[in-house]
Amino acid sequence: MKIAFSNPSVADTGIVCVAVASGRKLSDSAKTLDKKLKGAISRAVKVGRFEGKKGQSVVIPAPAGSKLDAVHVFGVGAGKELSAGALHDIGGTLYAMTARTGAAKIAISVDKIAGCKLVPADMAAELAFGYRLRSYRFDKYRTKLTDDAKPSVKSATFLVEGAAAARKAFGDLDKVADGVFFTRDLVSEPANILYPETLAKEARTLSKHGVKVEVLGEAQMRKLGMGALLGVAQGSVREPKMVVMQWSGGKGKEAPVAFIGKGVTFDTGGISIKPAGGMEDMKWDMGGAGVVVGLMKALAGRKAKVNAVGLVGLVENMPDGNAQRPGDIVTSMSGQTIEVLNTDAEGRLVLCDVLHYCNKRFKPKTMIDLATLTGAIIICLGHERAGMFSNDDKLSEQLSEAGDAVGEKLWRMPLGDEYDKMINSDVADMKNISGGRGAGSTTAAQFLQRFVGDTPWAHLDIAGVTWSKKDAPTVPKGGTAFGVRLLDRYVRDQWEA
Ligand code: BES
Ligand code: MN
Ligand code: ZN
Repeated sequence: MKIAFSNPSVADTGIVCVAVASGRKLSDSAKTLDKKLKGAISRAVKVGRFEGKKGQSVVIPAPAGSKLDAVHVFGVGAGKELSAGALHDIGGTLYAMTARTGAAKIAISVDKIAGCKLVPADMAAELAFGYRLRSYRFDKYRTKLTDDAKPSVKSATFLVEGAAAARKAFGDLDKVADGVFFTRDLVSEPANILYPETLAKEARTLSKHGVKVEVLGEAQMRKLGMGALLGVAQGSVREPKMVVMQWSGGKGKEAPVAFIGKGVTFDTGGISIKPAGGMEDMKWDMGGAGVVVGLMKALAGRKAKVNAVGLVGLVENMPDGNAQRPGDIVTSMSGQTIEVLNTDAEGRLVLCDVLHYCNKRFKPKTMIDLATLTGAIIICLGHERAGMFSNDDKLSEQLSEAGDAVGEKLWRMPLGDEYDKMINSDVADMKNISGGRGAGSTTAAQFLQRFVGDTPWAHLDIAGVTWSKKDAPTVPKGGTAFGVRLLDRYVRDQWEA
């Protein structure tokens, strides 16, 4: 799909979209078009329940004699509530409205809305971002899709004063959308296609965007002493990998911000095997790694003025004659020993070695990890928010704010000595589960905290938000890429400002 911007002219062919604000306030282009159509728009918004609220819409088939096909009137709500995030949602809803009408070309008029702080050019860029985000599809394995089951829209043109400025503002957002789409592709792939080696190969493609990519294999990780990560991998015929991505858009020697992702390309549970029902979901147990790779693509794509590193630990967790057993004791790269009481609590075993490696090698300013780590976080927060655990109040505030701004919301959860004690082991330095029924997401986070030293760190448990079973304004059902927009925003606000 092509997205374009051009200076205003009221489109008079095809499908045209015009805005109406709360209280049935017609935008300027809605008014102009209304006159041309002899009051058809004002009549339609008056007789229906359409009030101009955000998300509402009404479709008016063009009257006889007009060259238009239809007018889609979309509500934008109150001008003062029209933030960038609200515009993304409106743009996404607009895509859903217009994508399968049969028309290939859609024109969207964008004008000043009273009360909105953004100028029309910026409004158009944000709307276009939402429009594109909603257009994501994963169709590569559908060989029998008929044309009328596919979206008809081929191009969307935003008609706006200052089209050049809008195009420029959209440029960066478009790169973020590229990152989001890359993540969604990775998360959607099944585990017979996407496994450590092939995920690493996908990550390598970032080198053409200026990212330095290194891939470490089993032998190198063995040399480094990554016994925790390797213990998880040993039941699989797929070789584990660790990918280190570096984007150096900031000042020469300045320490980077670091992003770490859990990349379990399939999680059977291992010898502590999971029940059959729903196990297919565990193809997206590499969601954290997917976000880190997509984020690096977004940062490089828009040439972010920051030094950032992204590290992902890639393994497949399988039961096998060579798999690790409950009760095994492994030695992590940090030297700390771990009693593995449940082989299904594998994410923390992978992350602990990657976190330690990252901290030691890069001495980052902050470390943020993302992981589909615990089912318990879904019990706590459902699919609405990701859980955040952090040793740093400032970092958690910054992340919360970034999440609110882009609609990827976080909720901070507690850490503390009383929880930390719960993973002490009788035979090793720690055990990988508490053994009790309570606070499963927190004890997982406590485990990670034992590997981050004093570095400001946040852990985002994204188990509930990585995959969605229903459509949302900017996120079609499936892989969400939750975290890419949030962390892109965090980088922009905290490290590039
Ligand atoms: N990958 C799972 C967590 C998960 C569950 C992600 C559901 C997405 C949806 C993780 O590796 C896991 O199995 N966690 C266990 C931990 C338990 C054994 C302490 C869990 O949450 O049950
Ligand atoms: Mn597991
Ligand atoms: Zn897992």
